[in-house]
Amino acid sequence: MKKIALVGCGRISKRHREAIDAVEGVELAIVCDINEERAKFIAEEAGVPYVTDFRDIKGVDVISVLTPSGMHPRHAAEIAETTDVPYIVCEKPLSLTLREAYELLRRVDKAGKTLLPVYQNRYNPLVAYIKKLIDDGALGKVHQFVCNIFWNRNDAYFQIGWHGTKELDGGVLYTQASHYVDMVHFFFGDVVESKGIGGDLRGLEVYDSVSAVCKFSSGAVGTINATVSTFNKNYLTEFTLIAEKGTVRLSGTNLNTIDFWDVDGMTKPEMDFTIDHVYGKGHDTMYEYIAGERWDMFPSHDDALSGIRLMEMLSY
Ligand SMILES: NC(=O)c1ccc[n+]([C@@H]2O[C@H](COP(=O)([O-])OP(=O)(O)OC[C@H]3O[C@@H](n4cnc5c(N)ncnc54)[C@H](O)[C@@H]3O)[C@@H](O)[C@H]2O)c1
Repeated sequence: MKKIALVGCGRISKRHREAIDAVEGVELAIVCDINEERAKFIAEEAGVPYVTDFRDIKGVDVISVLTPSGMHPRHAAEIAETTDVPYIVCEKPLSLTLREAYELLRRVDKAGKTLLPVYQNRYNPLVAYIKKLIDDGALGKVHQFVCNIFWNRNDAYFQIGWHGTKELDGGVLYTQASHYVDMVHFFFGDVVESKGIGGDLRGLEVYDSVSAVCKFSSGAVGTINATVSTFNKNYLTEFTLIAEKGTVRLSGTNLNTIDFWDVDGMTKPEMDFTIDHVYGKGHDTMYEYIAGERWDMFPSHDDALSGIRLMEMLSY
């Protein structure tokens, strides 16, 4: 049984707790938040002890870092250096800059620990299936893709704590669309040319809307449009792939539906799935991989760094 500690008892901690509860072979052992009231509340709900300083966590197998985005590199590195935990899960994004990502990985390696970045969208069955089709050559050459993330985060959201700040949030590509930037990076590998243009009409410190165009080393070209400024509510998430031997479009809150399929010699697979919350089911799969010690299912250093490089190139 792998013992898990959660550092950060905010909104995403609920998803981690649900996933840990749902997966055999992992159990929540302790929670931590610098806000004692929050730590105590979650600890009582979950029936586990709490601490307010992560340096006091001892004897667990994994610490999951769920603190505000810009704090990840510092917290994950300090946890590697000051606790006896061998594995550190780090919520997305790993960092807001490539420089910090390098530094984080260097410090974790030096401490002899392993960093496990959360890229739960890679475990979405439809995303994994498309990745396999691309890698196996079943779609032939991929010419082009379009990825649109048209979401809403209202003004009240940006009044809360670190949201919308340059130091801790990083903007729409980092805090909302990072899974989709990671997805195109996962599909197509290294980027050779890119340009992102940001919009900031809402007066935040960061871009609330970005339009980006990329060319990958495979030759695929494509665009990512991401916004948190859609009127009233989330509108859509979609990914369209134009390849030599087929056209595929995924949609749904977490790209959980194949809504167009025209692939040479292949009938549409019955893989659509329902989701009961906005974060998808990827955290469950991630904890299953932890329970089964499938460390190979997490991105390598080079993979993680090249993903952060892409995000930085598109965001500044
Ligand atoms: N993978 C996903 O789908 C997904 C979804 C939502 C959020 N996230 C990521 O999870 C992270 C947290 O998001 P959130 O919405 O839960 O934020 P939040 O603000 O609700 O919670 C963050 C918590 O971290 C605590 N904290 C800050 N410094 C700390 C420290 N030194 N030690 C212990 N606790 C500390 C804060 O007190 C707060 O309770 C963000 O980076 C976000 O991008 C990922």
